[in-house]
Amino acid sequence: MTYMMNITSRSQSFNRRALGFNSPRAHRALLFSRLLRALIVIVSGVFVISFFLAVGSGYIHVLPSLSQAFQGFGVSVVNGSSDDCDVFDGSWVIDDSYPLYNASECPFAERGFDCLGNGRIDKDYVKLRWKPKNCDIPKFDVQTVLEMLRGKRIVFVGDSMSRTQWESLICLLMTGVEDKRSVYEVNGNDITKRIRYLGVRFSSFNFTVEFFRSVFLVQHNWAPKHAPKRVRSTLRLDKLDDIANQLVNSDVLIFNSGHWWVTGKLFGTISVSDAAALVALSSVYLFQYYGCGISQAKTMFRPSLYSYPSYPTLDRGCYFQVGKSLKLGMPISTAFRTAIDTWASWVETKIDTNRTHVFFRTFEPSHWSDPTLRYCNVTQQPSLETRGKERSRFSDTIMEVVKNRNVPVNVLHITSMSAFRTDAHVGTWSDNASLSDCSHWCLPGVPDAWNEIFLSYLLANHRSPLP
Ligand SMILES: *[C@@H]1O[C@H](CO)[C@@H](O)[C@H](O)[C@H]1NC(C)=O
Ligand SMILES: *[C@@H]1O[C@H](CO)[C@@H](O)[C@H](O)[C@H]1NC(C)=O
Ligand SMILES: *[C@@H]1O[C@H](CO)[C@@H](O)[C@H](O)[C@H]1NC(C)=O
Ligand SMILES: *[C@@H]1O[C@H](CO)[C@@H](O)[C@H](O)[C@H]1NC(C)=O
Ligand SMILES: *[C@@H]1O[C@H](CO)[C@@H](O)[C@H](O)[C@H]1NC(C)=O
Ligand SMILES: *[C@@H]1O[C@H](CO)[C@@H](O)[C@H](O)[C@H]1NC(C)=O
Repeated sequence: MTYMMNITSRSQSFNRRALGFNSPRAHRALLFSRLLRALIVIVSGVFVISFFLAVGSGYIHVLPSLSQAFQGFGVSVVNGSSDDCDVFDGSWVIDDSYPLYNASECPFAERGFDCLGNGRIDKDYVKLRWKPKNCDIPKFDVQTVLEMLRGKRIVFVGDSMSRTQWESLICLLMTGVEDKRSVYEVNGNDITKRIRYLGVRFSSFNFTVEFFRSVFLVQHNWAPKHAPKRVRSTLRLDKLDDIANQLVNSDVLIFNSGHWWVTGKLFGTISVSDAAALVALSSVYLFQYYGCGISQAKTMFRPSLYSYPSYPTLDRGCYFQVGKSLKLGMPISTAFRTAIDTWASWVETKIDTNRTHVFFRTFEPSHWSDPTLRYCNVTQQPSLETRGKERSRFSDTIMEVVKNRNVPVNVLHITSMSAFRTDAHVGTWSDNASLSDCSHWCLPGVPDAWNEIFLSYLLANHRSPLP
């Protein structure tokens, strides 16, 4: 248990400090935290039930934590005294030993996420560490992690949020590599937003960290023969993306999806609630969407409320498809669930989970103060309240599918922990200051915490292999 971290004396609970006065805001936050606790009790109850069901079906091997056991691998990040820890229930604490790297010195952090390098001056946001309530995440020890990953293949699959986490992991790991030239992109590619594949090899440690861009995870097809004329292309909800075969032979797989399952990107029409996500995911240029995520850069677009009508509200001819049948009018939420079900079946049938650790990261909340004006104010401190952003229908769907399937998958449920971080988005410190972005995150920043949690799962599993 030497790798377990004790809180440094310099660290202080941000929430405790900030709540140390008597204000209505503090009361609200307290009330909220009580509600949250009540919710956790209820959720734990569900875990207990699922736990007994799981034991009944002989599925679970080791049981250090109910929630984790229920989610799959028997891993433990507790410090020995408690066997009941939800690593996603906690708070952000100030820690002067952060940040863990400098993005300007990491060749794999894309410029658009290097907020400090792009002129952000306030630095409190890089000094926060995630502290689970009932346990500690092991302090990031780069040499231990590099050795653990020796000979392995780690693969991220998803949208730009996945690419950010991929970049974060590489930058974290590079701090332990002496000869930086020994780390390279296998095809010599630069990191760009729309590239389909990126693979970074750590040659002195014989491992690669890869990224496959697959925003929906399922297959895109041009219109099937004999389809009605208005159908231009389809998303095959019952078939995983073509890249799936290239994923099978991995040691670690980390998926995400969610930000592209919105009407604008799917159908080429804009609803006000989707506008924010649309702008965010094309932080340099705005894209005109042709349906099913197919888009074309449209740089003439001036972001303001008044330009909305200039977006055509045409039906762009994207339809969902299951088998041979077109699902005309299927709601996006149903389509997303079908896709995640397809993904879960694929894991069950194609992945040797004795070898491959499978993770799914839940929805990454965004913090637009006014989506219609495409406006957001990045704060200097995290928010005390999550204002409903601690939940997402995408995250709920992922958890439900994994629970019902009993696939051995670790859900990285980062939605609620990230919901506090109104201070950590790219804002106007991207590579184009004329646009504001409250969806993507600065590096270093929140994605590093996702990685620390993910690595703690791997470490726990690595050190105490399942019987
Ligand atoms: C384990 O962590 C808890 C809470 O962080 C702490 O109170 C306890 O002293 C720790 N126990 C050990 C053995 O380190
Ligand atoms: C990061 O590195 C760059 C280039 O070496 C340097 O100019 C900058 O001051 C560093 N930033 C921080 C926050 O240390
Ligand atoms: C590198 O790792 C692979 C497994 O991914 C292994 O087969 C190979 O022997 C390793 N090479 C060296 C030089 O250790
Ligand atoms: C995985 O391991 C279990 C127990 O060791 C074994 O029964 C099972 O056949 C293995 N599965 C595969 C696909 O190798
Ligand atoms: C955004 O923040 C700035 C500086 O804190 C403030 O002056 C401005 O009024 C804020 N705008 C909105 C719409 O909240
Ligand atoms: C920044 O974005 C604006 C608005 O989309 C665009 O007109 C401008 O060309 C962009 N600048 C750069 C440097 O990409």
